[in-house]
Amino acid sequence: MSSVESQQRVLSGMRPTGKLHLGHYHGVLKNWVKLQHEFECFFFVADWHALTTNYDDPSMIEESVWDMVIDWLAAGVNPGSATLFIQSRVPEHAELHLLLSMITPLGWLERVPTYKDQQEKLREKDLATYGFLGYPLLQSADILMYRAGRVPVGADQVSHVEITREVARRFNHLYGREPGFEEQAEAAIVKMGKKNAKLYRSLKRRYQEEGDLEALDTARALLKEQQNISLGDSERLYGYIEGGGKVILPEPQALLTPDSKMPGLDGQKMSKSYGNTIGLREEPDSVAQKIRTMQTDPQRVRRTDPGEPEKCPVWGLHQVYSDKDTQEWVQIGCRSAGIGCLDCKKPVIDAIVEEQRPLHERAREYEGNPDLVRSIIDEGCEQARDAARDTLDEVRAAMGLRYR
Ligand code: TRP
Ligand code: SF4
Repeated sequence: MSSVESQQRVLSGMRPTGKLHLGHYHGVLKNWVKLQHEFECFFFVADWHALTTNYDDPSMIEESVWDMVIDWLAAGVNPGSATLFIQSRVPEHAELHLLLSMITPLGWLERVPTYKDQQEKLREKDLATYGFLGYPLLQSADILMYRAGRVPVGADQVSHVEITREVARRFNHLYGREPGFEEQAEAAIVKMGKKNAKLYRSLKRRYQEEGDLEALDTARALLKEQQNISLGDSERLYGYIEGGGKVILPEPQALLTPDSKMPGLDGQKMSKSYGNTIGLREEPDSVAQKIRTMQTDPQRVRRTDPGEPEKCPVWGLHQVYSDKDTQEWVQIGCRSAGIGCLDCKKPVIDAIVEEQRPLHERAREYEGNPDLVRSIIDEGCEQARDAARDTLDEVRAAMGLRYR
């Protein structure tokens, strides 16, 4: 696949460090499910990334891998639409990481904000390792391997996509310059026909002289439509818009995951580290138990005391799960002591249980059939490896490693 077409590819990964919860569902997985219908998607288990911080006790990683894949499937990620794989089962990622490490200045890695932040935050671990410094570059290898144009990530990961762009730019600059590049690019323009050639030239000029990003987008779209130029030419012209050489590794864009509005049981953002989660596949009884014992407005001691929803974490859940009528019922009933807290919690329990019902149903098929899950992953790993080998062949060739 050419770098032009691959701009339609989406890639994302998740570290296997424990069971997923409803925060993951509302924040990340629903987004993946939507994207799988719009783009060619690759989703993978980033087990090597988990190892950079959990190398002293990898047992958690092993336990989480299959659970996490089942969570994805339960959430509706569809192996018919998206390619699901495990990073360490596509060892090509390690080779690309190594090759990219040759051209990555140390300072770039040391300056990625998560490097110092995580070392501070995870003080109990020794993260002064080679592997941890390389964390963002391993992520760059993951992304560039599939020449993904879009990378859905949370805000904390944007700097990793940014360094990926820089590494790709440096790579293309160093290795994308074939002898006679300009002549070949000019010849390729002519092959598009008079009208398109003229349009391409004017868009290129607008981008280069005025920095007009819209012109850049339009020129890329124009290339995508061309039927009568080769993939190689199309890659050349792709790079030629920006003035450089051939684009071997296209620069990805971060697709910011919509901020999850999912509050946890204590009203803070739902997160494993706060211990306030509801599991993605939590049993209905356990969901009910957790909600029933949730803290409410501390001023509402007796049933007859009026309360204030704004001071109650249950209200946060109503905002996610309840319609206007129910919300009004809560507001009025709480402030007038017309309803009790258990009454108030009932619709939330029902809504969560209802939301999880199809997830449980889908999960059941896989929970009782580990071979099925394994075969989905086997197939995904094979597909991923095919795509990865294509990229690596080009990368090796560009770096002068074609002798065998
Ligand atoms: N670092 C990401 C996280 O912690 C996981 C990840 C690894 C990833 N490789 C990736 C995400 C490539 C997107 C693309 O969430
Ligand atoms: Fe919270 Fe509902 Fe009780 Fe009011 S009635 S304090 S909103 S649980």
